Amino acid sequence: MRSLHIAIFGFGTVGKSIFRILNTPSQYPITIKYIAVRNRKKIDKNIIQNTTTIFTENHDDIWNDPEIDCIIEVIGGTDIAKDIIYKAINTQRNVITANKAVLAEFGNEIFEHAQKNKVTIGFEASVAGGIPLIKTLQNHFSFGKISSIEGILNGTCNYILSELENNPNKNYTEVVQEAYEKGFAERDPSADVEGIDTASKLAILSTLCFHTPIPKTTDFPVTGISHISSHDISTAQKHNKKIRLIARATKQHDSVHLTVQPEEISENSPFYSVNGPDNMIIITHEYLGKIILQGAGAGGDATAMSVISDIINLL
Ligand SMILES: NC(=O)c1ccc[n+]([C@@H]2O[C@H](COP(=O)([O-])OP(=O)(O)OC[C@H]3O[C@@H](n4cnc5c(N)ncnc54)[C@H](OP(=O)(O)O)[C@@H]3O)[C@@H](O)[C@H]2O)c1
Repeated sequence: MRSLHIAIFGFGTVGKSIFRILNTPSQYPITIKYIAVRNRKKIDKNIIQNTTTIFTENHDDIWNDPEIDCIIEVIGGTDIAKDIIYKAINTQRNVITANKAVLAEFGNEIFEHAQKNKVTIGFEASVAGGIPLIKTLQNHFSFGKISSIEGILNGTCNYILSELENNPNKNYTEVVQEAYEKGFAERDPSADVEGIDTASKLAILSTLCFHTPIPKTTDFPVTGISHISSHDISTAQKHNKKIRLIARATKQHDSVHLTVQPEEISENSPFYSVNGPDNMIIITHEYLGKIILQGAGAGGDATAMSVISDIINLL
């Protein structure tokens, strides 16, 4: 087993979890040599004083260090993240990213560029947080065809819908604010509640299932949950149904149909039991029938586990 020297870009929710988990004793020879941060003064002094990891605001410290062989991008967004990924590929470093937005927008060119430069892009954490979905799709379905993949892929939306169901006195705005306070939503939740985050994840999954280029999220219908009212939810409940944001990619003849939309889910659907920030994915395969994966779709530790599984794959 070779040893790995890695650099993490971003020390937010996911970056901190990767750092904490990789600093617990293990048999793996992985050294976090650098963490790139925007403002070093914001980092807890105790953390900086009790580690050999170098916290730097200067990305060149990392690019100029020939010992670094793997870059972890957990900054988010598309601009800086794309630059970091390209710089890593151009300097022959493997890349691991949790960033579905950058892959949905630029993934086709990123994967092609990585292949040309003989480096790998690990992206297990980019869809469904801690659920081992990407490698399952890459490794387990070599024979036979997947006819559809559908899922609840956004923990924020599922949390909001579940809370509205369980608390008829609360309105949408209150629940979104609570989701933010509990760490289940970002300050600006629009990418989640408008379905854009789910669409980016569906685009990535569709490519893995149907071996097509990554579709543009603007090329298929995407509806979020921001227009769902308490009345819609209570009406669904009267009919023993729940509203869930469902992403679906279905292969019909030679074309793939993608949609993201809120749907009324009846009691006999597996999606009915998915509450709070959980995710569920149902893959329908010609020999396997339905395979269902369910678990933590977000959260620092869950997402870090997927990043770490990609790191260990490089050893
Ligand atoms: N959180 C989850 O549950 C989850 C789940 C799955 C995937 N993801 C993905 O993981 C990625 C990171 O998410 P997160 O929740 O960890 O985000 P986050 O908490 O906002 O952390 C991002 C960090 O990156 C830092 N940053 C921004 N620009 C930087 C730069 N130029 N150089 C160095 N650091 C910079 C930010 O610094 P400041 O503090 O100074 O702003 C922040 O600390 C995103 O792509 C997200 O979609 C997250």
